[in-house]
Amino acid sequence: MSEIEPAKAELRLCRRLGLSGEEALQFLTAMREGKSSRSAVVLSPLAPLDYRLPFACVDTSGWGWLPPRVYVPAEGERPTVYPDYREGMYYSLDLSSCWESAPLSVVPAPSCSLDLCAAPGGKTMLMAARYLPQNHIANEVNSSRRGILRQNIQQCSLPNVEVTGLRPDQWASDGRTFDLLLADAPCSGQSLLCKGIKNPGCLGQQMVNGNAKRQKGILLAAVQCVNPGGHLLYSTCTYDPDENEKVMAYLLRRVPGWHAVEVPLLADFRSGLADFPCYRLLPAHGFGAGGFCCLLQKDY
Ligand SMILES: C[S@@+](CC[C@H](N)C(=O)[O-])C[C@H]1O[C@@H](n2cnc3c(N)ncnc32)[C@H](O)[C@@H]1O
Repeated sequence: MSEIEPAKAELRLCRRLGLSGEEALQFLTAMREGKSSRSAVVLSPLAPLDYRLPFACVDTSGWGWLPPRVYVPAEGERPTVYPDYREGMYYSLDLSSCWESAPLSVVPAPSCSLDLCAAPGGKTMLMAARYLPQNHIANEVNSSRRGILRQNIQQCSLPNVEVTGLRPDQWASDGRTFDLLLADAPCSGQSLLCKGIKNPGCLGQQMVNGNAKRQKGILLAAVQCVNPGGHLLYSTCTYDPDENEKVMAYLLRRVPGWHAVEVPLLADFRSGLADFPCYRLLPAHGFGAGGFCCLLQKDY
């Protein structure tokens, strides 16, 4: 299909997401204004239990899905300007990225885990905050991004984390298997628009199709690396159903012995575009630019 002009592509995306009326207007406004970015911080193992952040935070007591040791800076605060940040007491990341890790609330502490697409390290930090992982591998195929990943892990002193750089197909033939695998996949990054970051072509079908193909390849390799009863958490920072619900539906059809897992804390975010549990965050929810997540479990 040939590419279409941005305004038409936005409307087409609204239709495909099932948004109409006020919801569609909110979504279009968010994409055009680019002001939906929200940051968060996750405490590192260096921060003691009684650690106090050097800046004011939002009251998040009603946000049941918020992962442990995650805080949301108050408006106008800049968490990265403090010495504590440079000393690795906390790591700064997108609030939506924290939301994408909420399915781990139903996953028991893994004895070995793999973050397949790990740089710059946000999901690995969130895992460390939740489980203090034993035998965690943070893997990144891109060598310069792997350097940043390694630096972030060192700065925050994450224990028992090995950094590797294998491709997903190399992991599949490597033979090692894990209780938990994170596939925070490369995607068209449509949510960047809602953060005010230019991302030409991200609404076009060509870019979406290319990413969907890559995501399926990554997942077909990833499923081979999970132990019976183990979990795979898939996430993206894009809106298109072709990179989200449809990728999950493809995998569940193609690979027997897997099912999608319900996440009670994300009930309000359940996607209406699939007949299995998976979750989407939109800018209108107020927790950042948005994303998608789906937790799969391999049968015993
Ligand atoms: C969305 S980012 C990961 C963000 C990271 N999980 C975090 O929370 O900080 C996706 C990553 O996948 C990597 N990547 C790109 N192509 C890949 C492929 N074919 N297989 C595995 N990883 C890939 C990119 O280099 C990028 O670092």
